[in-house]
Amino acid sequence: MKPPAEPASPLAPAHLDQLAEQRWCLVDGFAGRDEALAARAAAASLDRAGALTPAGLGRGGDHRLNRATRGDRTVWLDDQRPVFGRAAARFERVRIALNRAAFLGLERFDLQLAFYPGDGAHYARHRDAFSGSSNRLITAIWYLNPDWRPAHGGRLRLFVPGEPVVEPTLDRLVVFFSEEVEHAVEPSHGDRWAMTAWMRRPDSTRPLL
Ligand code: OGA
Ligand code: MN
Repeated sequence: MKPPAEPASPLAPAHLDQLAEQRWCLVDGFAGRDEALAARAAAASLDRAGALTPAGLGRGGDHRLNRATRGDRTVWLDDQRPVFGRAAARFERVRIALNRAAFLGLERFDLQLAFYPGDGAHYARHRDAFSGSSNRLITAIWYLNPDWRPAHGGRLRLFVPGEPVVEPTLDRLVVFFSEEVEHAVEPSHGDRWAMTAWMRRPDSTRPLL
């Protein structure tokens, strides 16, 4: 008996090769236009409901200082928000594809929505994880911006050889190694939505027994 057909991998062999060699890769048409637009609409209604908060706030942080580093506002998407279940299932397929192809041992991911309101907000050069100090291994970012134009700026800049830049256009996915790839978001002059999954290895500090 044949096992039931599995959905196609979201990452083609060429994507996996690029990720292995260059530590990042780009996938256009990740989920399809309709799904990307539906995610954006759900994101916008979450923002209208006041669910997003300025990134990096809290824990005694200085708001002005944080805004100089990053000007987006964000919300974590957990199981309490079933409207994003389809999107979460897409990222889950990425996790499984990476584990199968490269034995990365990714155990789970955290999912976050981020919105740059088009007032020149940016995110200074940074890494998403520091080696040894975190179990974040892979960053995957899905852009939800149907009317993006070059004049909006807001490109993701990757500090790898060749310094590629990525426009945050609708249904585009960028994947990179969280500890290795420094990156920045250029000042954004349009509504800029992104959904990011940080894929994690098991916590190595967790006692085994
Ligand atoms: C981040 C980040 C990049 C982007 O949220 O850590 O670097 O293109 N985002 O939105
Ligand atoms: Mn980042």
